[in-house]
This record gives sequence, structure tokens and C-alpha cells, in this order.
Amino acid sequence: MRGMLSPSLMCADMLNLRSEIERLDNLGVDYVHLDFMDGKFVPNITLDASLIKSVKSVLKDMKRDIHIMAYEPQQYFDRMGIGQGDIVAVHYEACQDVSAVLKDISSRGANPFLAVSPDTKADVICDFIDCIDGVLVMTVYPGFAGQPIVEGSFDKIKEVRKIIDESGKNIILEVDGHVSWDLCKKMRECGADLFVAGSSSVYSKGMSIDDAVSKMMELIR
Ligand code: DX5
Ligand code: ZN
Repeated sequence: MRGMLSPSLMCADMLNLRSEIERLDNLGVDYVHLDFMDGKFVPNITLDASLIKSVKSVLKDMKRDIHIMAYEPQQYFDRMGIGQGDIVAVHYEACQDVSAVLKDISSRGANPFLAVSPDTKADVICDFIDCIDGVLVMTVYPGFAGQPIVEGSFDKIKEVRKIIDESGKNIILEVDGHVSWDLCKKMRECGADLFVAGSSSVYSKGMSIDDAVSKMMELIR
């Protein structure tokens, strides 16, 4: 699978979101990463459900990559307008009935991804391998941009890659957290397919978004 990019909108210029989204779309970016937080599962709040819904109306070719860091995420699906073409990642640690939530996402025509926090073992995904289109490996603790990578993340990516490959299924491996210029290549070598780019790369200071996106696309190819 070719490497794909998903810039994280929580790191963009909040006062110019529409033009930031349109710019990414025009640059041929695959996905826009939309973080939703409930202030309970993680101690922070970012993009709200109605904003995530509105983003849909300005997209041309780019797709939504929605990462829900909230307990019982299914309560927000209607408000986000979840549907065809969306990636919807829910946390293993945040759902009472993980299978039911993943099936709910599929029933809406969207692509269910299972997200795993750094302290969760990779092999929890095995029980859900038949109902997911992707795994989101958190390489920082969910909730905040600008954190250092958690130790052991490369081994975790390799382990998830192995489980996916052994399943024989076409499952996307997404990485989120400190996907930096320096580390993204190694993440790719470990088996990542989809890269969330935040303050460590595409939204780092001192480079235009056009240059940053093309540099990143080159690195993860
Ligand atoms: C949380 C976010 C952050 C962030 C990634 O899920 O997705 O991980 O925006 O950007 P960095 O880690 O590069 O600041
Ligand atoms: Zn995220």
C-alpha cells in the first residue's frame, strides 16, 4: 500500500480553518485528521462534533479521518454526520462493547478503525480483525499535540503490522503522535501506511504548508 498523509486539523490555524482545509485538498492530500475529545477519556477538548460535520461540506477529493477520543463514541456519530468514505477511529479503551461500535460505523458506510493507546497491548486487535478496516496506533498519549514519542512505539507498529499481515486482510495501519520529519521514515519501515502529521512535521514553524506537504509525501512514499 502506498504511504498516505492525514494532516491534523487541531494543529492548523483555527481562525482560517476553511482555507487551511481547501489548501490541503488542492495539494492532493488523502485525508484530513479530525480529533474529537470529550474532556473525560482525555483531559482536553478540541474540534467539536458540529464542526467535524461541517468540514464534510467543504471537501472535494480529500476524505475525513475522524479520531474520537471519547467514552462511548457512538453517541456522537449522528452529530458528526458519519457516512460513506469517512474513517472513524474509536478507542479500544473507551468502548464497553467494541464490536457493536465498529459494526455501527460499518452500517453507516464508513470505515471502522480501532485505536490503541500506548499502554494497550497490540494483540487486543486480534478479536476485532474481521470488523475493522484499519488500526490507529497512538505513538503519544492521546489528547495533546507536541509530545515526544512513547518508548516502544516502533516495536508496537511492527507487532500490529505482523498481526495484520498474518490475517491476510487489507487493513490500514495508521500512526498518530510525533510523526516527525526524522521518525516518519522509520515508522514507514516498521509498516505504517497512513501518517497523521501535526506539529512535528506539516504544522511545524518556518515552512509553508505547500512545501511541508510535498516534503512529507516524499518521505512516506
Ligand atoms: C491527537 C493528535 C495529536 C497531534 C499530532 O490525537 O492527533 O497526536 O495532532 O501531532 P504532533 O504529535 O506532531 O504534535
Ligand atoms: Zn488523532
